Amino acid sequence: MPPRKIIIDTDPGQDDAVAILLALSSPEDMEVLGITAVAGNVPLELTQKNARIVCELAGKTDVPVFAGCDRPLGRQLVTAEHVHGKTGLDGPSLPDPTMPMQDQHAVDFIIETLRREDAGTVTLCVLGPLTNIATAFEKAPDVIERVQQIVLMGGAYFEVGNITPTAEFNIYVDPEAAEITFKSGVDIVVMPLDVTHKALVTQPRNDAFRDLGTPSGIAVAQMTDFFERFDKEKYGSNGAPLHDPCVTAYLIAPELFSGRRINVEIETRSDLTRGMTVADWWGVTDRPANATFIGDLDADGFFALLVERIGRL
Ligand code: BDR
Ligand code: CA
Repeated sequence: MPPRKIIIDTDPGQDDAVAILLALSSPEDMEVLGITAVAGNVPLELTQKNARIVCELAGKTDVPVFAGCDRPLGRQLVTAEHVHGKTGLDGPSLPDPTMPMQDQHAVDFIIETLRREDAGTVTLCVLGPLTNIATAFEKAPDVIERVQQIVLMGGAYFEVGNITPTAEFNIYVDPEAAEITFKSGVDIVVMPLDVTHKALVTQPRNDAFRDLGTPSGIAVAQMTDFFERFDKEKYGSNGAPLHDPCVTAYLIAPELFSGRRINVEIETRSDLTRGMTVADWWGVTDRPANATFIGDLDADGFFALLVERIGRL
């Protein structure tokens, strides 16, 4: 099979960085047409810069990086420096990027790429709030049916929420954008907290990254060292969850993941449960399925894949 053409939409973020490194080290599985930055973990000014820092860390300076929306569709931006640090990529000390930002707006790049490439051949890998995607769909509805698949990190059912008692961060930040995406009719695969909280970087797993001895391996170990403190304190877990790499790993090895095809709706109106992913896991409604909601993964297989691929950089 030829590599899948993908656009990575992202708000780096240490776990976004690992997801991008996995994609950039896997050319036989995916061709990264571009990376589009969105405001999320930190403001856009930093996420677009961080995306370029990660490309340079991987030695892939030819991947075009675009800046997108700097705020959610209809709300104030909420950020997560309490998890990711002031820069969004706290942990390693990485140089400022020298590769250029593209002039084109990320939303226009997404639209133009979907129109240019054959219909059904471009997958959107979404690692942050869905603002860029929903904006593209609103601006150019003709591109919706041209998307091959959206694989996104967001939401939760059994784990309920991380930013509020009932909402996961990416969906909470821009629930209106999430609603547009989930109602779009595109084939969607969701990596919710239910699965990403099982992708924990335990000490031996982090040592395996560090022991690669390469700039990327060491940086991944330092990044997870930094942001694991948050989850250890909050959940008493064994290490940091690598949320976003579940998205790019799924494109390489879907057999590592299992889930159900179900209906998922987004709560946008309630102040109390804003951004909740109302996932009909038990099939108690007759609402039509609109997403594959992943619930479990082979964590050892996932980490073996990450170490093998990132070790190539
Ligand atoms: C998601 O929010 C961000 O903090 C992470 O990068 C991930 O995309 C987890 O809720
Ligand atoms: Ca992210």
